[in-house]
Amino acid sequence: MSKSGRFSRLKKKVEKITGKPGPDSRVLEEAARILHDEVEYYDWVGFYIADPDQDELVLGPFVGEETDHTNIDYGEGICGQSADTEETFIVQNVAEADNYLSCSPEVKSEIVVPVFRSGEFVGEIDIDSHELAPFGPEDESFLESLAEVLAPFF
Ligand code: SME
Repeated sequence: MSKSGRFSRLKKKVEKITGKPGPDSRVLEEAARILHDEVEYYDWVGFYIADPDQDELVLGPFVGEETDHTNIDYGEGICGQSADTEETFIVQNVAEADNYLSCSPEVKSEIVVPVFRSGEFVGEIDIDSHELAPFGPEDESFLESLAEVLAPFF
């Protein structure tokens, strides 16, 4: 199936779970599980929640290896840079990134997508891959559209 076919099916699947009642973190947890299990190059999928008072990102639900990076200052690493610029940040080869926080030596690339609610930055979708340069424009627009769907649950 084409990437766009797969992604529109996945978007529907995630939209479905957002209709369920329950605590917010359950929705994010399920969304992380779906993305992790269904896209073979999404090896770590998680959410960081913004704490604007501290200029800090706090790790929320995730699926993948445990990480030491439970709190990240704005500006620090790929996640912190995305928080600063409020823009999607793609690193196709983390070995070439100079401001990068490593979670696992297996990770080769990363995409971070900011999440906004009523125009305000509330957190991020963070995805690590064990593949080099797997992220294309389809991933970017898919994840940016999911950020809108998931924003109420941050
Ligand atoms: N690599 C990230 C840190 C978070 S982990 O990928 C889970 C970064 O450079 O900000």
